[in-house]
Amino acid sequence: MAVVKLIVVSDSAKSVAVLVSGTGTLLRSILDNQKDRYRVDIVVADQICPGIQRAKNAGIRTAVVPMETNRNAWNDKLAAAVAAVNPDIVVSAGFMRILGPGFLEQFEGRTINAHPSLLPAFPGAHAVRDALDYGVKVTGCTVHYVDAGMDTGKIIAQRPVAVEAGDTKAELHERIKKVEREQIVELLHNATVENGKVLFP
Ligand code: GAR
Repeated sequence: MAVVKLIVVSDSAKSVAVLVSGTGTLLRSILDNQKDRYRVDIVVADQICPGIQRAKNAGIRTAVVPMETNRNAWNDKLAAAVAAVNPDIVVSAGFMRILGPGFLEQFEGRTINAHPSLLPAFPGAHAVRDALDYGVKVTGCTVHYVDAGMDTGKIIAQRPVAVEAGDTKAELHERIKKVEREQIVELLHNATVENGKVLFP
């Protein structure tokens, strides 16, 4: 028999928009752990991906804004899609695009990004591979504010993950993601919003 999971969310919950590009297991954790402190109002992707399907299955509003040659036009469209729900917080959770001026003008200070390394080490799209190639013994995950750089925004929280002998990229990334899934939910629960900016204790 199918099990239906009811998620009860109060009106005072912070409104969250989630940006995804791929599998969306961080998104799954964010969706599964909505309580009275936050509510996901929209999931936006740059391509059709499992994350968008997860959101649809959960009955969440979705939008897909495919990348364009004109990045400014794309940023404006992405911002418009997110602005449709006027979120308190935007979470980039496995969103593999750099957010530019048209987006940040509206959402800087309330946009945060999950990244699978201890920044400033290993920024970019291949953080886990780069950490393994470098031979570090400890890596981890970071949540930071998004600014115009690549993974350069102010750090909000970090957690370490040990690299084990013989780790493959997939094994290490999965252990990091396990920590990331808990970390992002905890941060969203504890976040406060003041004057259009999101703050963390
Ligand atoms: C996460 O590890 C996240 O930190 C990373 O993508 C993964 C998304 O996993 N983001 C980046 O690398 C951004 N530079 P998921 O699709 O299973 O949620």
